[in-house]
Amino acid sequence: MATTDQDKTPGNNGPRHVAIIMDGNGRWATMRGRPRLFGHHAGARRVREIVEACPDLGVKYLTIFAFSTENWKRTQVEVAGLMMLFRRYISKEAKALLAKGVRVRFIGDRVRLDDKLVALMDELELLTSHNDKVHLTIALNYGGRDEVARATKRLAQDVADGRLDPASVDEETLPKYLDTCVLPDPDLVIRTSGEARISNFLLWQSAYAEYEFIDTLWPDFTSEIFADLIEKFGARDRRFGAVKA
Ligand code: IPE
Ligand code: IPE
Ligand code: MG
Repeated sequence: MATTDQDKTPGNNGPRHVAIIMDGNGRWATMRGRPRLFGHHAGARRVREIVEACPDLGVKYLTIFAFSTENWKRTQVEVAGLMMLFRRYISKEAKALLAKGVRVRFIGDRVRLDDKLVALMDELELLTSHNDKVHLTIALNYGGRDEVARATKRLAQDVADGRLDPASVDEETLPKYLDTCVLPDPDLVIRTSGEARISNFLLWQSAYAEYEFIDTLWPDFTSEIFADLIEKFGARDRRFGAVKA
C-alpha cells in the first residue's frame, strides 16, 4: 500500500511513526554483575510501557529493533536465549496486545528463524490484524541492506517475468517491495545506550527521519523519557530539502 504525503505528515507536530533501536541491554546487565540475557529480559519488559504510551502521545506507528541480521555473530548461548525470549514474549504478551488494540507486524527475514518462532509470529500477526490503535512493528532478523537486497531480488523477478517495466522504476517502486511496504516512513528514530550509529536499521525508510541518540540504556527507558523526546521532536524544523518562505 503506497502512503500519501499526508500520511507522512504527523498531526499536531508530533511524530506519527517512531522507530527505536533498543540498545544497551548487555551493558545494563554487566553493570549489575549479571549475564547479558538478564538484560535482554529486562529490556523485553520495557516494551509494554512504551507501546501503551503511544496513543496518548499521538504515535500511531512504533517500530522496534529486536534482533539484527548481524546479531547472529554473538555467542550461541546469547542467540539461543534471545530466540527463546522472543517466543516467550509473543506467547505472554499476545492477549494484552490484542486487548490494547495493538496491531503487530514483523519485518526481517524469517527464513533463518526456527519454525516454532515463525509460527508464533504468524499467529500474532493474524490475531491482531483487525486492530488499529497502535501499529507495532517488530524487526526480527532484520537488516536494512538485507531488506533492500531481498526487495531487489523480487523486483528483478517481476521484470524477468514481464510484470514490471524497468523504464517505470522510480523511487516509489522499491518501497513497495520492502518489508515495510504498508508503513509510513519513520519520522523519529531513537537509539538508546549512547551509540551514535544506525546499525543497518531502516536504511531506505529513514532518509528524512529525525534522530535522537540518548545515553539511557534500554532497560532504563521509561514512558517519561519517551514523552520528552516526542515533545522535543515537535520543536524541530523539518525542511525536507526545501527553504521556508
Ligand atoms: C540490544 O542490546 C539488544 C540486542 C541487540 C538484541 P545489546 O545486547 O546490544 O546491549 P549492549 O549494546 O551489548 O549493551
Ligand atoms: C542494534 O544493536 C541491533 C538491535 C538493537 C537489535 P547492536 O548492539 O547489535 O549494534 P552494534 O553492534 O552496536 O552496531
Ligand atoms: Mg548493543
